[in-house]
Amino acid sequence: MRFSTGIYTAALVAVAAAAPKSSSTPAANPTATDPAAVYAAQATAKTESPTSHVKGKVFDRFVTIWFENTDFQSAAAEANFEFFAKKGITLENYFAVTHPSEPNYMAAVGGDYFGLNGDPFIAVPENVSTVVDLLEDKKISWGVYQEDMPYSGFQGFSWVNQKTGKNDYVRKHNPAVLFNSVANDADRLSKIKNLTMFQQDLKANKLPQWMFITPNMTSDAHDAPIGTAGAWLRTFLEPLLNDKNFMQNTMVLITFDENSSYPKQNRAFSVLLGDAIPKNLVGTTDSNFYNHYSEIATVEANWDTHTLGRYDVGANVFSNVAKHTNDKLRSWTGTPALADTTFNASYPGIFHSTTWAPQPVPNTLIKVNGRTVLPKIRKQWVSQQKKTVYCGQLEIPTSANPPKGTCPGPSGNDGHSQQHHG
Ligand SMILES: *[C@@H]1O[C@H](CO)[C@@H](O)[C@H](O)[C@H]1NC(C)=O
Ligand SMILES: *[C@@H]1O[C@H](CO)[C@@H](O)[C@H](O)[C@H]1NC(C)=O
Ligand SMILES: *[C@@H]1O[C@H](CO)[C@@H](O)[C@H](O)[C@H]1NC(C)=O
Ligand SMILES: *[C@@H]1O[C@H](CO)[C@@H](O)[C@H](O)[C@H]1NC(C)=O
Ligand SMILES: *[C@@H]1O[C@H](CO)[C@@H](O)[C@H](O)[C@H]1NC(C)=O
Repeated sequence: MRFSTGIYTAALVAVAAAAPKSSSTPAANPTATDPAAVYAAQATAKTESPTSHVKGKVFDRFVTIWFENTDFQSAAAEANFEFFAKKGITLENYFAVTHPSEPNYMAAVGGDYFGLNGDPFIAVPENVSTVVDLLEDKKISWGVYQEDMPYSGFQGFSWVNQKTGKNDYVRKHNPAVLFNSVANDADRLSKIKNLTMFQQDLKANKLPQWMFITPNMTSDAHDAPIGTAGAWLRTFLEPLLNDKNFMQNTMVLITFDENSSYPKQNRAFSVLLGDAIPKNLVGTTDSNFYNHYSEIATVEANWDTHTLGRYDVGANVFSNVAKHTNDKLRSWTGTPALADTTFNASYPGIFHSTTWAPQPVPNTLIKVNGRTVLPKIRKQWVSQQKKTVYCGQLEIPTSANPPKGTCPGPSGNDGHSQQHHG
């Protein structure tokens, strides 16, 4: 790390001049990426590691680790990914929701990507809730771990390796910080940490119950071959398989944000493993249709949380969980057929670079297997319920088949909720 007393002192002076109050106030400019500002903020950043023990129906801890831009077959053939596939369930029809990276990360915690079709600096309006709201509502501890993020709660666009100048941490792969409902809350920011903190939390047995882990731009295969990512995963995850501070009825999802060939389907190699996976499912393959929204849906089903009322409500719950929660698995019956659906470009929305569409209204009345929308979301949006485009459909829209009109039915609900009543 490029770090010298000289830079550090200069940074403190600069901060003191800019923010006369005190040098211990939170980062004066949490989006600044110049080393002086970053090191100054690093010195005072707030980090928290609260824990909880809320029993889930199938697992008590969910951990997802995201890799980058690799076709299903390339990942499946890499020796280390193969090693982990043998230890769990391979999800062979798990799809990304669009290209490129950032909207996929956004979707995995927010239930939509709001038309985002690039990797720019984005801040999602504060009135959009995420899985964080659902977890906190149930007092389930959570944390986001980003390799080489310079300090907890950093909001900058990127942070390069200070010795080599290479890409290291990038905001576009940090799902929670993209949402103002997280970023405008100092307490929530303090739970977005780096992997140094992960290792500390692990040692202290202070890991949370829900975790999202992003390796750096080399470790996640973005700037390196898939073998580099495989080797990183082996080094990181293999020791955890027998670590009692990690395996506490834990389910790990290894996945990829997207595959690398845009004209082809966008299938992401994904594996579920951990001590929450029963022995008889180890080494098996699950061919149900899943996508990044299944990550939220599965967490909702497992802990019986509320929902976001977005694409999370239509997504399939992973079958090893669904069979214990009585969630019904559905098959893609839309037109075009799944085989002809590419998920390779974004539909219009507030973040689309060329084709704007209004901010979509959550379905505040829909029920999935008894699960209702988070009361806070319902209160905020119910007056606009008629405009909702989230109808409980498994068949998410694509650029070729964008969201249209409103849901059929009296309350903007096409009856999928009835099918789901448990
Ligand atoms: C949500 O926030 C956006 C951006 O600030 C605003 O345009 C929109 O009106 C808000 N909608 C509701 C229902 O609060
Ligand atoms: C990780 O974050 C902590 C807490 O903010 C910080 O003190 C530490 O310097 C960071 N580590 C690295 C390698 O940047
Ligand atoms: C990324 O992480 C790996 C170890 O996990 C480290 O060796 C490397 O220096 C980091 N940064 C870059 C730019 O490779
Ligand atoms: C998406 O896939 C379709 C069908 O293969 C192809 O025609 C189109 O060019 C692709 N779009 C992009 C942005 O690559
Ligand atoms: C991307 O994923 C699709 C669908 O799973 C697969 O058929 C295609 O072969 C992948 N691309 C490449 C180049 O392997």
